[in-house]
Amino acid sequence: MYSIKNKVVFITGASEGIGKACAYAFAEQGARLILSARRINILNEIADDLRKKHGVKVYAYKLDVRNREEVEVGITHLPDEWKKIDILVNNAGLGRGLEKMYLDNPDSWEEMIDTNIKGLLYVTRMIAPQMAERKEGHIINIGSIAGHEAYPKGGVYCATKFAVNAITKSLKMDLIDKNIRVSSIDPGAVETEFSNIRFYGDKERAKQVYKGFKPLTAEDIADAVLYCATRPPHVNIGEIILTPTAQASAFVLHREE
Ligand SMILES: NC(=O)c1ccc[n+]([C@@H]2O[C@H](COP(=O)([O-])OP(=O)(O)OC[C@H]3O[C@@H](n4cnc5c(N)ncnc54)[C@H](OP(=O)(O)O)[C@@H]3O)[C@@H](O)[C@H]2O)c1
Repeated sequence: MYSIKNKVVFITGASEGIGKACAYAFAEQGARLILSARRINILNEIADDLRKKHGVKVYAYKLDVRNREEVEVGITHLPDEWKKIDILVNNAGLGRGLEKMYLDNPDSWEEMIDTNIKGLLYVTRMIAPQMAERKEGHIINIGSIAGHEAYPKGGVYCATKFAVNAITKSLKMDLIDKNIRVSSIDPGAVETEFSNIRFYGDKERAKQVYKGFKPLTAEDIADAVLYCATRPPHVNIGEIILTPTAQASAFVLHREE
């Protein structure tokens, strides 16, 4: 296992779910963490807990990845000791609504496209050049099985994750002479706040998504992210697709009564 002790790991969407689980997984290995998300109060609590539990350095700051200026200014003005980023985990993202595309609310499209595609691009654009210059670094994108197969009523969410799939592959090619690793972790059903956000806070409806089978946990995904990050430097994991054992695809999910 390649050591990531004292490596600087930048995680977007670290206040909840998969991003938060990644923060704990990397902290356990002694990495230094830059945690970003919009809810700074929650991030500060997580940062304190990580410092206490794992004795690691953590820099938490408020960032809305949809805001290009905020991304550019925030990353440019990171304190000196945080400027050299070794691993970027592009995790911030959401699904909003589950509706036939021709009837859907375009506001939810904007939110998903701005966060899942444009936000990921803005952050990557700010961090990849310094990695390329040093010829060292790793970019890990959180995609989805929705980036491999489209499903009904999820057209735009799937489109954003197909985009992440294309961006991951293309970025790896663009960085081929720079010794940079690029990976995509593509989960099926993970029980996080994801469905609650998708259904605009309808907790009952969100609960039904995970009924009758054992879904993946955020920690399962963090484990896969950590696996990619801890391979020897000459090994690039391009893609990991992971689903609950009860799930074969976006369409085939076995639920017990
Ligand atoms: N759960 C699943 O079944 C599943 C499956 C496949 C892929 N994924 C992907 O996994 C990633 C994480 O999702 P999750 O399941 O962990 O969901 P989650 O529990 O809802 O967490 C989402 C995280 O993203 C952050 N975020 C959302 N919009 C943001 C923005 N504009 N700027 C910065 N941060 C933002 C949220 O923080 P703030 O609200 O504090 O900003 C939160 O920390 C997403 O890319 C999602 O598409 C999830």
